[in-house]
Amino acid sequence: MKILLIGSTARADCIAEAIIKSKTKPELYAIMPSMNPGVKQKAKELIAHSVTDFSFIINYAKKIKPDFAVLGPDDPIAMGLANELEKIGVPSFGPKKEVAKIESSKSFARELMKKHSIEGLPKFRVFSDSEGMKDFASSLEQIVIKPDGLTGGKGVKVQGDHFDSIEQGLSYADSLLAKGKVVIEEKLEGEEFSLQSFCDGKTVLDCIPVQDHKRAFEGDLGPNCGGMGSYSCENHLLPFLKEKDLKQAHKITEQVALALKKETGTEFKGILYGGFILTKKGVKLIEYNARFGDPEVMNVLPLMKSDFVEVCKAVIEGKLNEISLEFEQKASVCKYVVPEGYPLNAVKNQFIEFKETKAKHFFGAIDEKNGHYLMTGSRAMAFVGIGENLEKAEKISQNAVNQVKGKVFFRKDIGTRELIEKRVNHMKTLLW
Ligand code: AMP
Ligand code: GLY
Repeated sequence: MKILLIGSTARADCIAEAIIKSKTKPELYAIMPSMNPGVKQKAKELIAHSVTDFSFIINYAKKIKPDFAVLGPDDPIAMGLANELEKIGVPSFGPKKEVAKIESSKSFARELMKKHSIEGLPKFRVFSDSEGMKDFASSLEQIVIKPDGLTGGKGVKVQGDHFDSIEQGLSYADSLLAKGKVVIEEKLEGEEFSLQSFCDGKTVLDCIPVQDHKRAFEGDLGPNCGGMGSYSCENHLLPFLKEKDLKQAHKITEQVALALKKETGTEFKGILYGGFILTKKGVKLIEYNARFGDPEVMNVLPLMKSDFVEVCKAVIEGKLNEISLEFEQKASVCKYVVPEGYPLNAVKNQFIEFKETKAKHFFGAIDEKNGHYLMTGSRAMAFVGIGENLEKAEKISQNAVNQVKGKVFFRKDIGTRELIEKRVNHMKTLLW
């Protein structure tokens, strides 16, 4: 069997590992923006090329004739790579653009849930011009402003975090209108978690829940970024999350999958990843992504006992109802090592060195030149500790990042008892 991976970041290295460890022994071919050393080592061939150059990708796919493609990043998915590959007879683990709109259009996602009476929505309204904006924003205690389309996680602004007054928020919203619709919604207070679910359009099978850390600096300070690290627990819950909350999140995703089919006629085939928040009024949906999370994929695939390639095939063939997913009863802590200055002014073309340790490592924004690793300016390498509990997993991951050399930084606090207690206490104060 041949599989074509379209990837970027350490997410692709992690997916590549899950593919090649399959008992089906597939040959892996990959296209990524850079010569990722991890994927290069795992693949029969890695081509460094833009993942949004569809004519290049289609020509390559015609040449190698893969059994199916695995689509990693949001941009090619939103632009319809699955649709183009289907035209040449290559199915994808990754949704078509009609249903990937659940990620690429925030207004579509909110309106779909509202139309189908799916629970978990904050108060929201979609605006195409500024009429009525002020009245609606003033009716909410605190607001969040979201541009409709993909912004690489940098477009959403939250009152209290990114701006103070409603007027400042409205002026940001006004500035966005030139480019398209704007969603204004109620600010939700609580603890966020990521639930990545395999979906074949009808059946939804959840991975274990994960908590990401979006702020760049320790103590949850600094600018938002792609995510500095993440953890999952051996009991397949999170310290602030109960079984009933997880069931609620699952129900929302299941209903969204069915609503997508009803609304578009197209089945969602891939990962439907809900970014949820547990609030005092229960589980609410912050956003959907149509792909694995980065870093969250690194907390689930290394622990997945089920064969990833078999699961991808079941998704493509619409047979997810015939299988079940199994994960090891272990905790995981993933820490990203990023270049100094990340995310706003990251240094580029700087060397990075690391040692083999007990942690797994995945290569991200790294190029290999003459046997040296050079950081290309985004999250560089991820180190994943896996252990029987969080404390052990955290130690393994921290020990690995401590030994990295170069102009880099990382968050020591991810997965530590102090930070986890802070989150549990945050949730407790909200529930009082
Ligand atoms: P998104 O791109 O929609 O995931 O938003 C990025 C981040 O903004 C989320 O991870 C949340 O931390 C925050 N955010 C988005 N929507 C809300 C909301 N309604 N209430 C509070 N925080 C939000
Ligand atoms: N870690 C957040 C994301 O992948 O969107």
